[in-house]
Amino acid sequence: MAVERTLAIVKPNAVARNLTGAVVRQIEEGGLRVLAMRMFRLTEVQARAFYDVHRARPFFDPLVQFMTSGPVVVLALEGEDAVRRWRELMGATDPAQAAPGTIRALYGENVQRNAVHGSDGPDTAGRELAFFFPGCDLP
Ligand code: RTP
Ligand code: MG
Repeated sequence: MAVERTLAIVKPNAVARNLTGAVVRQIEEGGLRVLAMRMFRLTEVQARAFYDVHRARPFFDPLVQFMTSGPVVVLALEGEDAVRRWRELMGATDPAQAAPGTIRALYGENVQRNAVHGSDGPDTAGRELAFFFPGCDLP
């Protein structure tokens, strides 16, 4: 299986609840490697740009508001099948539907405040990694 990279975000609700370390532990114990990690406080412009694919959805404005409500921790991850593996570790978008033991099942509060983000495919991962770690920022 191919070694891939993907982007993870610890969302504002999880950062505020001091769950960053718990998420990083799940990532590392789940077989993925942290290549880069940085805390950001997203501006509205940045959050709207990051979630542009969802701009027509009814949840877009509340999502932007949530993602700018406090600091986020953004990680570049690497490992075999990393895009799919990270989404498997996160669990389903709605924590109520997420498999037991997944990050969203453990730490998600509701479908919006679901603790973590993950790229949804290799192309998206490339774009999202470049959004947060441009140029030579990644090893
Ligand atoms: P993410 O992009 O954050 O990894 O989550 P995802 O792929 O599992 O879900 P996606 O459909 O891409 O939705 C992006 C984020 O928008 C919020 N959301 N709210 N019905 C709702 O209120 C609703 N649906 C989605 C969540 O924060 C979701 O992660
Ligand atoms: Mg998504």
